[in-house]
Amino acid sequence: MSIIILGIESSCDDTSAAVIKDGVLLSSVIASQAVHEAYGGVVPELASRAHQQNIVPVVHEALKRAGVAKEELSAVAFTRGPGLMGSLLVGVSFAKGFSRALGIPMIEVNHLQGHVLAHFISEEGEEPHQPSFPFICLLVSGGNSQIIRVDAYNKMEVLGQTIDDAAGEAIDKCSKVMGLGYPGGPIIDRLARQGNPEAFTFSKPHIGGYDYSFSGLKTSFLYSLREWVKEDPEFIEHHKTDLAASLEKTIVDILMDKLRKAVKDTGIKEVAVAGGVSANNGLRNAFREHARKYGWDIFIPKFGYTTDNAAMIAITGYFKYQDKDFCPIDLPAYSRVTIK
Ligand code: KG4
Repeated sequence: MSIIILGIESSCDDTSAAVIKDGVLLSSVIASQAVHEAYGGVVPELASRAHQQNIVPVVHEALKRAGVAKEELSAVAFTRGPGLMGSLLVGVSFAKGFSRALGIPMIEVNHLQGHVLAHFISEEGEEPHQPSFPFICLLVSGGNSQIIRVDAYNKMEVLGQTIDDAAGEAIDKCSKVMGLGYPGGPIIDRLARQGNPEAFTFSKPHIGGYDYSFSGLKTSFLYSLREWVKEDPEFIEHHKTDLAASLEKTIVDILMDKLRKAVKDTGIKEVAVAGGVSANNGLRNAFREHARKYGWDIFIPKFGYTTDNAAMIAITGYFKYQDKDFCPIDLPAYSRVTIK
């Protein structure tokens, strides 16, 4: 009998539902929340309200596009955390009600684990290019920057992580200082393509092991900008593309330096990248360059699976379903948790 999983994702500001049948993606629907743009960041209360409005139509649409009736579902997989509590509660409560009404199991998914397993989403008629275990995954998003050793779908070890800001958070904050829109990541990416990455130098952290730090870079960017703007009020406007390219290069260099060290030390040459910042073209190019130079076998997700999506939750649910790894209905959401 087929295994059909409905995935639900509502950890931040995207309401998403996806259907996976026997490991193949049938549909993926994402409702993004434009309401936060005016505030330059996600407003938690507005996010949970928007999830409330979106969740039913998004699930309905995902089932419709998949051509699957809700009675055919084998289980509901949902993001339990980490994320914004009010946002998570919408998806968690929906999953509980839905599974109880249909009499099918619930599967809790760690959002970070979902990002890593996005590499196993396969689409109809597509030649799969998936990592084999063990592999190293650089997980870079608005809330996380981690180097993870992945030994199995349910066995992951964090080798290093940021001790302060995440890479995406640093990009978003620097972009805000430049007076650009939110989220800053895609805007910086676009501007960086036209700029000179060697135009400006910003400070890089000196910390041991595989850990990251981005708060010093953020401060260095802010202080340098203040000085330059004092001398020339039009400085940002005149140097927008060079600033973006130099900032991007600094962040990509920081990320790749530690990743290169982890790959060398573990001897694992299958290397993946995941999370919202993996959409960045500078980072993608650095991965390709490392593949050429160091013989890495690299795995870069499709753009649609970089930022938050329910397809990654559904594929994780599909793996867990096969192990009958279900959860009880009284399970609470969690806002903070690390990868297991
Ligand atoms: O994974 P994600 O959607 O949400 C979290 O779980 O955090 O990541 C969002 C982050 C934001 O900081 C956003 O600016 C960044 O990913 N991002 C990018 C790009 N697209 C999204 N950063 C750099 N370049 C991009 N093209």
